[in-house]
Amino acid sequence: MSDSADTGFPHRHLLGIEGMLPPAISFLLDLADTYVEQNRAVDKKKSSLRGRTQVNLFFEPSTRTSTSFELAGKRLGADVLNMAVARSSVSKGETLIDTAMTLNAMHPDVLVVRHQDSGAVHLLSQKVGCAVINAGDGSHEHPTQALLDALTIRRRRGRLDGQVVAICGDILHSRVARSNIHLLNTMGACVRVIGPPTLMPRNIEELGVEVHHDMRKGLAGVDIVMMLRLQMERMQGAYVPSLREYFHFYGLDQEKLSLAKPDALIMHPGPMNRGVEIDSTVADDINRSVIREQVEMGVAVRMACLDALTRHLPNVGAPL
Ligand code: NCD
Repeated sequence: MSDSADTGFPHRHLLGIEGMLPPAISFLLDLADTYVEQNRAVDKKKSSLRGRTQVNLFFEPSTRTSTSFELAGKRLGADVLNMAVARSSVSKGETLIDTAMTLNAMHPDVLVVRHQDSGAVHLLSQKVGCAVINAGDGSHEHPTQALLDALTIRRRRGRLDGQVVAICGDILHSRVARSNIHLLNTMGACVRVIGPPTLMPRNIEELGVEVHHDMRKGLAGVDIVMMLRLQMERMQGAYVPSLREYFHFYGLDQEKLSLAKPDALIMHPGPMNRGVEIDSTVADDINRSVIREQVEMGVAVRMACLDALTRHLPNVGAPL
């Protein structure tokens, strides 16, 4: 993953947060900060990716992630192509590699990939000549989500280290949780995970988190409450008795939130299931909820990632 060129960012691809060092994370967040300002200006366009081709290859549905990657590429002046790939009956490995080789022949500079299988994006990165960004692979990693969450927290709180962050809900199926755990631990925050035993990965404490099954105890004194969606599409069988019961024990409402610090921030990567993992009064609380700010930070973070990775690319066309 390393590259010798000194661009301030030492990676050729962005496949996950695991293994990234604090300077690389801070580099991306600092760069993203500058794009937040640019995105609030009237002229939002730059030309640092002019001449570059970005292909967004999404094997799974997406709203925020795909639109923000598209906007990010366009604001940097790249030509952006969106490919929504329907699931095929061909075996997944073959489909993925065939698609990758076809796209590679068109000389893209960046491939942004979301895939339902953990590890698929890493595999693809070994087959193509361009930079690859993981936009979510199975329940493995979703690095740009963790970066945008970190940017949101850092801008609100001025720092990441020392923040106590509770990640709540369906931890088992969540690539958002995994990437956030790696990032927050690397940057010196303290992470608690809260959820029912059925939705908690085995040995999760080995990632350096405090595990809670009682939401009230887990939320006591935290700075940040990060809620996760129940990922029904990844569940085979019953992981929760009923949605009503789930909300009763693990849904964030004003009463459970009152156990966190009085100024604790509420986060959610979206899409939200209102009344399942979060109550509308909490999700829409203008003083505490930063859910819309997360979406805004998503564009800036993705611009920073595209910018940092394309600095490594050669400036002249290479033969296949
Ligand atoms: C998340 C994802 O796709 O992993 N959403 C997102 O990227 N905004 C979380 C989810 O789907 O619940």
